[in-house]
Amino acid sequence: MTPELVLIFDFGSQFAQLIARRVRELNVFCQIVRHDLTAERVKELAPKGIILSGGPASVYDANAPQCDPALFDLGIPVLGICYGMQLACQALGGSVKGADHREYGRAALNVTNADALLRGYPAESTVWMSHGDQVQAGAGGFVTLAETDTCPLAAVKHESRPVFGLQFHPEVSHTPHGGIILANFLRDICGCSGDWKMSAFVERTISDIREKVGTRRVICGLSGGVDSAVCAALLVKAIGPQLTCIYVDNGLMRAGETEMVRHTFRDWFKADLHAVDAGERFLGELAGVTDPQQKRKIIGRVFIDVFKHEAKSIPDAHFLAQGTLYPDVIESGGSADGPAATIKLHHNVGGLPAELGFELIEPLRDLFKDEVRRLGVELGLPEELVWRHPFPGPGLAVRILGDITPEKLAVLRKCDTIFLDELHRTGWYRKTSQAFAVLLPVRSVGVMGDGRTYDNVVAIRCVQSDDFMTADWSQLPHDLLARVSTTIINKVKGVNRVVYDISSKPPATIEWE
Ligand code: XMP
Repeated sequence: MTPELVLIFDFGSQFAQLIARRVRELNVFCQIVRHDLTAERVKELAPKGIILSGGPASVYDANAPQCDPALFDLGIPVLGICYGMQLACQALGGSVKGADHREYGRAALNVTNADALLRGYPAESTVWMSHGDQVQAGAGGFVTLAETDTCPLAAVKHESRPVFGLQFHPEVSHTPHGGIILANFLRDICGCSGDWKMSAFVERTISDIREKVGTRRVICGLSGGVDSAVCAALLVKAIGPQLTCIYVDNGLMRAGETEMVRHTFRDWFKADLHAVDAGERFLGELAGVTDPQQKRKIIGRVFIDVFKHEAKSIPDAHFLAQGTLYPDVIESGGSADGPAATIKLHHNVGGLPAELGFELIEPLRDLFKDEVRRLGVELGLPEELVWRHPFPGPGLAVRILGDITPEKLAVLRKCDTIFLDELHRTGWYRKTSQAFAVLLPVRSVGVMGDGRTYDNVVAIRCVQSDDFMTADWSQLPHDLLARVSTTIINKVKGVNRVVYDISSKPPATIEWE
């Protein structure tokens, strides 16, 4: 049984993925598709509804991205958001012009007609606007449902077609009641039943995996992160004894990481786990290397080499399972109906080349990160693993500035553990997106007891981020920072100074290298 589908047409909005996540939160399955997907193809996909995203262009520009105008003749409900609304109105004979004032930020919305789309919506509320153009009144058969001081058509519906438009963004958190509108659209207007549930996904995916794999063997690489762990747990459930997991310990992991992977997969899931201890090889090849990109290249190359070697020892392996997520699929342009690849700096080193010769299985390629976490819980993975912050493929190598030695790794692991333990203990780990310690290649003067010290500086970094493309430093409580600093300096020999990184991304990056 395929789930009910809603299509989100992407006109280049920074919010397209956010719209998709909001729709999924309402238990409706949706996919982001290219803006020029033909009405023919849409008919084949038979969605229950269509959402047209916002976008940075003006609909009257020569090169503005357009949609197939026949979309509006399919009888499928359409909700246009911002640019999407302007496009829908223009396609149906309305006119769009530059507004007198660019509206950017919060605006007060008055509902004038609590039609199906706005049923249950507060009569007066705050919404988030971000536009320079406006649909003009009185053309195209649209009637107004809500207005703001400067925008008389802030929400509209077509008088005879199931076409709706919002000039504001219901998907962002600055529109506090936006969820009501999306729920009204999906449930009442599109008639979605909201049956996209994790339990149903698990059942369907397991039966798909069994059918595809048959009696053959699957290899799955474990990194210690959430995605590969959930992917492996799903495969254990689907084809247990036919799965072999490979975990490469590159000697650059945090304290306790290898033990956790062993414990979870070998002891708990009873999976066949090949844990390869390759720390010496990695550290040997990294000796004396200080350039960050060089470190990444070496680690990437050695990883592939070690993985390949181990995979060869599993003679009947046919498939390679990877924890690719939906945002990776969209951003790499890896879906036929999806938007073209966006150019994004990717420094992932965990990737395995196609030349390994395995057939790929990517059971998470329809899911967002938050859904993968829910799935992990459903599959019985420990909370500690499910809620892990991301950890870069090159591991602690990019958190020791300068060359890497076993002694520096030991110092950094201790500092990192003290910081993360404190975040866990105080409940801050779950409230933040990524936290870690960095060992700096400088020494500074200090006093301890009666003596003068000349020791290492450690930086601690903690950020809030939705997508890791931008990030703010976390406003951690001062007493927490004080405890971390005191504990590190008292307990970790060789460190006499701790600093907190208060840089946002951009212009800084999250990692220091
Ligand atoms: P930056 O430092 O670019 O990091 O702001 C953004 C996110 O990517 C992670 N990161 C990496 N992940 N290989 C990875 O797999 C890498 O080489 C790498 N460098 C950074 C970083 O931890 C953050 O989550």
